[in-house]
Amino acid sequence: MIEVDHLTKKYGSFIAVDDVSFQVEKGEILGFLGPNGAGKSTTMKMLSCFITPTSGTAKVVGKDILADSLEVKENIGYLPESAPSYQNMTVIEFLNFIASIRGFNAREKAERVEKIIMTTSLDKVRYQTIDTLSKGYKQRVGFAQALIHDPPVLILDEPTDGLDPNQKREVRNLIRKMSQEKAIILSTHILEEMEAVCTRAIIIDQGKIVANGSPESLLKESSMYNVISVLLTQEPGDSILESLRAMDNVEKVNVLKIDGEAGTKLQVIPVQKSDILHDVKSTLTKSGIEYNEIYREKGFMDEVFWNLTLGGRN
Ligand SMILES: Nc1ncnc2c1ncn2[C@@H]1O[C@H](COP(=O)(O)OP(=O)(O)OP(=O)(O)O)[C@@H](O)[C@H]1O
Ligand SMILES: [Mg+2]
Repeated sequence: MIEVDHLTKKYGSFIAVDDVSFQVEKGEILGFLGPNGAGKSTTMKMLSCFITPTSGTAKVVGKDILADSLEVKENIGYLPESAPSYQNMTVIEFLNFIASIRGFNAREKAERVEKIIMTTSLDKVRYQTIDTLSKGYKQRVGFAQALIHDPPVLILDEPTDGLDPNQKREVRNLIRKMSQEKAIILSTHILEEMEAVCTRAIIIDQGKIVANGSPESLLKESSMYNVISVLLTQEPGDSILESLRAMDNVEKVNVLKIDGEAGTKLQVIPVQKSDILHDVKSTLTKSGIEYNEIYREKGFMDEVFWNLTLGGRN
């Protein structure tokens, strides 16, 4: 559905997007992550034919963004980074206007506008001018105009930015629901959001792709991935620490005191991030050690993000 081919954007000698290539299939929700100024919005603007690349190109539903830009625009819903313009229009006027530009006849237009107003919970502000809307409602109007023609490709630049927690949840659910029939790229700074909705993530830093994989595969890069945490009911004796440290697949055991909580936490670090939950459990059971909790850490996305971006530069 989307094929990005060595896309580059320069502003003078500054390279905002540097030789970026990737693909998105139908059914995928691709998360675009990266520090401020990494080049996410610039890439999205090129894909939606809003700005032209310096070199390279991309295809959307098989159409080239340079040669067939009209067809590309027909097949894309684009939510820009900042909420919509036309501040003096009311919500309903604006959505009617967008539906007209999209070429719908009067009946279709009325149907589509009503449907999208309900989907994006804009009913109570339909007669309000856009400049008087709160930030989150402006964002909803932007979302509504991107979806009104039910396009097969969605490019959403920080779709949940400024929304309240309930609305964030609704937008995420809506994105998930639509995803089966579409290819979706969304950018976000919320790592939990990426983990919750995206089937794959691309991390961009200084215009370049530094990671491209499923949320699970990115988490594997965390130093905490597959570490076993154990909350013991009592202080661990030396013998239990020795038994754990003697295990073949254990690299290290850390003992942490938890303030304000009775007991001690152990972190058992596996050799080469292997799965040792079962083995640790049996060692503890054999030694007659009681514990309140034992679990496998899934890793920390913020650590992975740091290492791939700022951390990687220092
Ligand atoms: N028209 C322009 N002229 C000069 N530089 C620009 C222009 N547009 C963008 N840039 C620069 O390109 C770089 C990438 O910007 P972009 O908006 O793509 O970042 P981003 O990844 O979307 O960041 P954010 O997370 O802050 O939204 C930035 O350094 C930005 O200042
Ligand atoms: Mg941006």
